[in-house]
Amino acid sequence: MTMRLLLISGSLRSSSGNSAVLRTSADVAPSGIECAIYAHLAALPAFNPDTDEHPLEPEVKRLRDEIHSADAILFSVPEYAGALPGAFKNLLDWTIGDEQARSILDKPVGWVNSSPRGAEGAYRELRTVLSYAHANIVDGACVDIPMSADAIGPDGLIEDGTIRSALIDVLARLLDAATV
Ligand SMILES: Cc1cc2nc3c(=O)[nH]c(=O)nc-3n(C[C@H](O)[C@H](O)[C@H](O)COP(=O)(O)O)c2cc1C
Repeated sequence: MTMRLLLISGSLRSSSGNSAVLRTSADVAPSGIECAIYAHLAALPAFNPDTDEHPLEPEVKRLRDEIHSADAILFSVPEYAGALPGAFKNLLDWTIGDEQARSILDKPVGWVNSSPRGAEGAYRELRTVLSYAHANIVDGACVDIPMSADAIGPDGLIEDGTIRSALIDVLARLLDAATV
């Protein structure tokens, strides 16, 4: 079986370390894992329960379609002011009211915290929201891999072998959870 893994970064910064971690995850993915990077965070409308009904706004539909087609999701997010970035929390809010088959409910999810400063507030909130959404948080795929900005090469990828092998382990744990 091939697992389709959706990679969602919480940063909109062009030289984002969190996005680099996810690009590198796609780069190291072994056969059997097909990765898709979600690239439309900035285009999502502000969450409004009044518009959380069919027909959905196109960007909300695109987000939900990408989640539906994924067997698992891997996140990497920065911490802003002790919490999740607003644009990313907005994305999570759009996942809550999704009652379609293959929504985030029960979907295996993990994260890579690449902050060298901890980012405990952001990841505590991420766990809270994903638990509220009843996602299947795969603890073995929720890891801290502290990384400095100079680990990112000119191609936007991380070459460090220790980081790359830690990412391979994360993917393997998500694959295990998606195939049980
Ligand atoms: C507005 C703002 C608030 C921030 N607040 C925090 C914070 O509370 N805690 C922290 O560790 N870093 C904080 N940072 C630093 C970012 O989390 C850090 O630079 C992160 O690596 C950026 O991720 P990125 O490279 O994926 O964009 C803040 C940065 C900005 C721009």
